[in-house]
Amino acid sequence: MPEIYHMSNDSSATAGIAGAAAALARGALVGLPTETVYGLAADARSDRAVAAIFAAKGRPQFNPLIVHVPSRDAAQRIAVLSPAARRLADAFWPGPLTLVLPRRPESGISDLATAGLDTVAVRVPVHPVAQAVLKAAGMPLAAPSANRSGHVSPTTAAHVAADLGDAVAVILDAGPTGIGLESTVVGFDGDRAVLLRLGGLPRTEIERVLGAPLLVPGHDPDRPASPGMLVKHYAPAASLRLDARDIHPGEALIAFGPDLPPGAGDALSVFNLSPSGDLAEAAANLFAVLRALDEKTDRIAVMPIPDHGLAEAINDRLRRAAEGR
Ligand code: TXA
Ligand code: MG
Repeated sequence: MPEIYHMSNDSSATAGIAGAAAALARGALVGLPTETVYGLAADARSDRAVAAIFAAKGRPQFNPLIVHVPSRDAAQRIAVLSPAARRLADAFWPGPLTLVLPRRPESGISDLATAGLDTVAVRVPVHPVAQAVLKAAGMPLAAPSANRSGHVSPTTAAHVAADLGDAVAVILDAGPTGIGLESTVVGFDGDRAVLLRLGGLPRTEIERVLGAPLLVPGHDPDRPASPGMLVKHYAPAASLRLDARDIHPGEALIAFGPDLPPGAGDALSVFNLSPSGDLAEAAANLFAVLRALDEKTDRIAVMPIPDHGLAEAINDRLRRAAEGR
């Protein structure tokens, strides 16, 4: 079983950071909190350690992974930041933004982590535990979300333990993650920024800093610009019926806001993502609610969520979950 450290307790937190750094140094895997979702971290320079990530997740293909570093300076040692990339890094790092950048030939990053591409996805997380591990380990960390392939991303340490068990040496438990959706992924086509994955940083905030709209890659499902754009990615086993304005017999309900649809009382169970209609709260609850309902029922009705701000990413994840079976 993994060693689990509770980061709310000072002495356990100190031991946890040291235990995580030691595990990473020997090429083992660590489940760690970030502000978005829990990550499954390994030494990004080691083919063997990165291969262990794919084995633990049961990933069908070797998708490129996000490389986490503690600072923009550290990012610049592995990748080249254009002026537009530097503007975004200045505005949003540390935080829930991943930039896909040209990789430096001398970066030392495993080809397995970048899937052999000449770009590398880089992120500087703001979560204090992720920062502490990056600094103690002193290495860039490849870290996809710490779920088994096909499951939704983990927002608690218990989700990580349930999905990965013995494949992970250490889990750092810092409670539920604050944002609850994965980072927003932005790449570049020349000078133009391209939205590769909707996520915890709303599109409008990025566009405000750029002073221009993000490009959105053509919707050719056979040739996604980023594997994160693949439709079947976040898939609970239960079927989801989106934009539900009523309840069918045998359905559970994912609600949003104070006004429930007629017949809500007949639903098998009701989870409200945010009774007050707060999108940040809804994002933080989304994956835990999908996991919980997936265990209880095979049919879920989902109320409409007005598509602005963070809801764009929430609705993206719900659509994938609905189409993913
Ligand atoms: O919030 C997050 O980003 C979490 C936490 C743990 O940091 N990590 C995460 O990693 O979601 P993962 O591996 O589940 O998602 C990586 C995303 C995928 O959509 C992948 O296709 C994209 O980043 N990506 C990585 N490298 C890329 C590259 N070189 N070019 C295009 N897309 C890339
Ligand atoms: Mg993932």
